[in-house]
Parts: sequence; C-alpha cells; structure tokens
Amino acid sequence: MTKPTLAPDPWHFPRPELAQKYLLSFGLGLSSARGLFAKRRMGKSEFLEQDLIPAAQAEGYLTAYLNMWDARTHPTPSLVAALSRAVEPKGLSKLVQRLNAPLKKVKASGKLPGLVEGSLEAELVDGPAIAGPLLSELLRGFDKPGKRLLLVLDEAQVLADPLHTELAHSLRAGLDSRKQNIKVVFAGSSEPTLRRMFGRSTEPFYNWAPLEPFELLDAEFVKAMVAKVNNLSRFPLAEKDAMAAFETLKKTPEFFRRYLNRYLTYAELGPQAALEDTQAHVFSGANFKDLWNKLLPADREVLKLLVKGVTDLYSEANRLRLGLSLGLDKAVSKNTPQNSLRRLQDEGLVARFDHGEYQVQDDAMAEWLRNLELDI
Ligand SMILES: Nc1ncnc2c1ncn2[C@@H]1O[C@H](COP(=O)(O)OP(=O)(O)O)[C@@H](O)[C@H]1O
Ligand SMILES: [Mg+2]
Repeated sequence: MTKPTLAPDPWHFPRPELAQKYLLSFGLGLSSARGLFAKRRMGKSEFLEQDLIPAAQAEGYLTAYLNMWDARTHPTPSLVAALSRAVEPKGLSKLVQRLNAPLKKVKASGKLPGLVEGSLEAELVDGPAIAGPLLSELLRGFDKPGKRLLLVLDEAQVLADPLHTELAHSLRAGLDSRKQNIKVVFAGSSEPTLRRMFGRSTEPFYNWAPLEPFELLDAEFVKAMVAKVNNLSRFPLAEKDAMAAFETLKKTPEFFRRYLNRYLTYAELGPQAALEDTQAHVFSGANFKDLWNKLLPADREVLKLLVKGVTDLYSEANRLRLGLSLGLDKAVSKNTPQNSLRRLQDEGLVARFDHGEYQVQDDAMAEWLRNLELDI
C-alpha cells in the first residue's frame, strides 16, 4: 500500500543532506540502527517524517513510522498497524489467514487499506494475544532479498518503560536476525532514558544502536525562513533580528515559527513586539496558566517538588512537605503522590524515566514552574 502523500508544507525547511547521511550509513551496511536524541520541539519528528522517510522511499525502502509516545497505551497493536501499512495489503490478509487469526473484519473485508488505518489496531487492542505473533510474522515478511524496510520509532524512550519489556524483547528478537533488510531509527526526547536503553547490559536493546545528538536547526534554517517571510510581507524582517530572536527562544524551531507567524500577522508592530508576544506565550503564557488552574492542589504541589529536583516523593520527609503545603499538619499517605503522578502522566505532563524517577515532560513548562516558585 502506498502511503498517501501529504501536500508539502510550504514552511518546511528541507534537510536532504542530513537524510542522506543516515541513508548512506545504512546503505553501506555501516550500521543497521541509529539512535538520536534532542529535546522536544527541536524538529526531530518533522525531519523523520518529512525528510528521512520520503528520502528512504525514493531509494526503494518500505517505511513505517510510529510515535511511541502517542501509542504508549497500546504500543504493540500500533506497531503492528504501522508495519501493516508499510507492506502490501494482500500480504497482510494472507498473513492473517496463515495465522488463522481471529480477526473478523480483516478476514471478511476485501477493503484492507481503509481497515488498516484504525480498526486493525482496535481489534488487536481487544485481542492482544494475536498482536505479538503478528508482529513476528510481519518482520519475517522482510526476509526476502531486496525487500528493505526503514522503521522509525519516534519517542522510542517509551520502549524502556518496564511496562513494555515484552514488546522490547520481541521487537529486538525480530530485528536481530534481519539487520540486512530492516534498518531502524530510534528517536527520542529523553537522553538519559535512551542512554539506559542502549547502554545497560540488562536492557533488550543493549549496544544495539549508537546514540548521538540530533543535528539541530541553525542559522541556515533562520535565513531560509526569513527569506520566506520577506516574500510575503511588505515589512522586511532583518536577518539579525530573526537570529537574535532564534537565540532568545533557545534555538527552538517551534517557538521560532510562532514568532514568525506573529511577525507576519502584526508586522507593522516590528520584530521586538513579535518576540515579546512569543516569549509571553511560550515561557509564561496563558497556556500554562490555564493548565495550572485546572490541576488539583496535590498535583500542583507534586509538580513544584519535581521541578525542584525532588525524586523520592514517597519519602517521609517529602510526604510531610506535601502535607504541609496542602494545609495539613502531617504527612500525606503514599496514595497522594501516587495518584498525582498517575494523573500527571495521563495528562502527558510528567514522564516516568525509570522506576520511581519522574520528570516534568516539557522543558518550557518546567521553566515556567520554576519561575512560578520565584513569584511565591
Ligand atoms: N525542518 C523544519 N522546517 C520548518 N519548521 C520546523 C522544522 N522542524 C521543526 N519545525 C517546527 O518545529 C515544530 C516542532 O518540531 P517537531 O519535529 O515536532 O519537534 P520534536 O519532534 O523534536 O519534538 C514543528 O511543528 C515546526 O513548527
Ligand atoms: Mg516529536
């Protein structure tokens, strides 16, 4: 099944050389897997989806992309669905028959492509026992010579979660013997977790991929974006103003795009006003304040402790801190931090990095929280 090509994003700054660098190292057989990390919002997903995957397809690879963070509640069915989309639908229906899989709709329907989009995943969530064998079978499908797959696992640190150990082991087993045909890119926002994934001898992906920083967007990106702006605006944006804004926004492409957007909408107010507006929104903006106001008091106190670097939320001393800040005169029970952490994780605000180690997921939010502490 060929993936429908999205209309190209006119604001996308293409990075063909970087894509070629990865493909070249795969093509030469120098490596079969790579790990890359950078903080959130730095352009990883956009590079993977808009540069690397199309470049790989142009070289004849089948490609599969999965954002493990989005799929974290059901990663195995989501991975199976992503791989299914990469292979021929006919291949999938044969596979299902061969496995004698109890997937009613897949067997009944001739219209696989539409089905693969959502309902296969849904069926696998309902019948999880079949997802593991399907995954192995799908990977086995790449044993034919010349059939090459590029598998991109975004936010791959999710795989390090003890909850997903089984998937990690079966994925590794399935990939191990197919390094010739299946190339894997692991991308992630958490450097420490990825380091553990690949660097600890007890982990399934130990020594499996070299881990390196993702090449960040730089002055070339800024110049190209300024050129686009100046094609559209009657008020030219000076490169030096844009560069300064990029620096102030911690070289974060997402924030820089907001800044450009603001500049385009209110160009007559000038670049400084656009920068101030962006800063107000991304670092201390209403978005965080709204979120904050909706949180339960206990969740707020847990967040405050986390940004102070507290890791042992269950210790007597920290439960007492929580109790006092909630207006009690004694320590809260372990349930309080436990429930808060679960809620905060469900909201995507906090990530669990290792057993008992939590961190605020979003750097800008962590910074905002730290500043909030200064105000109190
Ligand atoms: N190559 C690029 N060209 C233009 N804008 C980009 C580019 N890469 C990232 N951006 C901007 O930054 C935002 C965040 O990028 P994303 O790839 O989602 O970051 P990450 O995956 O590292 O969290 C994008 O939505 C886009 O606005
Ligand atoms: Mg991303």
